[in-house]
Amino acid sequence: MNKGTLIIGGGVIGLAIGWKLLLRGEPVTLLEKGDTGREASWAAAGMLAPVGEVHFQEDQNLRLGMESMRRYPAFVEALESDAGMKVDYRREGGLSVSLHPDDTAELRHRFEYQQALELPVRWLRGGEAQEMEPALSPNVVAAVYSPDDHQVDNRKLVEALKAAFLKAGGALHEQTPVERLVLHENGAPSVLAGNREWRHQRLLLTAGSWSGMIPGLDGALRPWVRPVKGQILAIQAGPETLRHNIRTPDVYIVPRLDGRLIVGATVEEMGFDRTLTVGGIFELVRGAWRAIPAVYEMPLAETWCGFRPGSRDNAPIIGETEIPAFFIATGHYRNGILNTPVTAEVMSEIMLGGQPPEFLAPFSPLRFTE
Ligand code: FAD
Ligand code: GLY
Repeated sequence: MNKGTLIIGGGVIGLAIGWKLLLRGEPVTLLEKGDTGREASWAAAGMLAPVGEVHFQEDQNLRLGMESMRRYPAFVEALESDAGMKVDYRREGGLSVSLHPDDTAELRHRFEYQQALELPVRWLRGGEAQEMEPALSPNVVAAVYSPDDHQVDNRKLVEALKAAFLKAGGALHEQTPVERLVLHENGAPSVLAGNREWRHQRLLLTAGSWSGMIPGLDGALRPWVRPVKGQILAIQAGPETLRHNIRTPDVYIVPRLDGRLIVGATVEEMGFDRTLTVGGIFELVRGAWRAIPAVYEMPLAETWCGFRPGSRDNAPIIGETEIPAFFIATGHYRNGILNTPVTAEVMSEIMLGGQPPEFLAPFSPLRFTE
């Protein structure tokens, strides 16, 4: 039995928890089937928008997201300092816009809900939104400004997490897929990977959309996670084209500091199908053009897709399992970049004997078996 924690999967969630455990003095080994951070964590848009993306009757998710937002500035500051690189955390805020009177009624309905929850939001007329973002279409009827919605360059985030993890002394094994979990009468399960068995004091599963696919965890023990495909693209605009995250009824647009506009994303139940479709890309391009007509002349820089890990109730699965010293942090679905700080900080506490905070209770892995 080796000391410390073994982690399966090196996306933002596995890397961030690993880094935080290392900072607490815990030895950490991470096994990654490919290159770290090249799946959902690479594919994402990097929006940190619990207010703009609020869903009706999902107050527990909102609470988790707001808790993570509260932690983001300090998390980024520590990460940038440890990793020696920037992650382009931007705090200009978000604008949800309507482009048609029907959309405006829906926007107003959501605005009233946001107000009822006492979230920081402001209603703007179309002209006021255009003053804030001159590239917006003159067809914008109204907008809701949410100043506390931010963004981060998620690709830089994973690079920084990898650098911080290694600098803190983490052992990283890439190209090492875990092939099986082996349960024992006492202690954490061991795993088979790279022609050997790895057995550590604690085991953490953070394999994103693949978390339910590793043999050895059967029946109620298996985390039920499915891949939810998202096609997404980047347009090469100028650095001054946009400053705020823009959300329309069809797409969202996230402006990076290097001038790229990230336009996302489709939401498709297609299994692990990596095909980029004409229809998917067309809908994104059309949605971006309706909101920002100037994109028509701009170069299309990149298209890609990724798999959001979605649980049965689309809420994350975070905490200790029925098996001693076996922990799970997965199912972050559309908000894994947003919920990285809270997941990493809370999990690293719990795994070393701390009590789970009350706001984590709805996300327990035990909710599917109880
Ligand atoms: P992943 O990043 O998928 O990492 C899991 C890792 O486990 C992978 O590297 C994989 O190779 C590895 N692995 C799998 N099986 C094994 C195995 N058997 N052995 C070893 N390693 C294994 N979230 C936001 O907050 N804001 C956004 O704007 C946003 N936009 C998104 C847009 C798109 C198009 C998509 C697809 C997602 C978006 N998300 C967003 C969601 C976010 O990307 C995910 O919730 C988050 O990245 C999940 O992180 P993860 O570490 O759990 O998964
Ligand atoms: N949160 C953005 C997405 O999942 O597409």
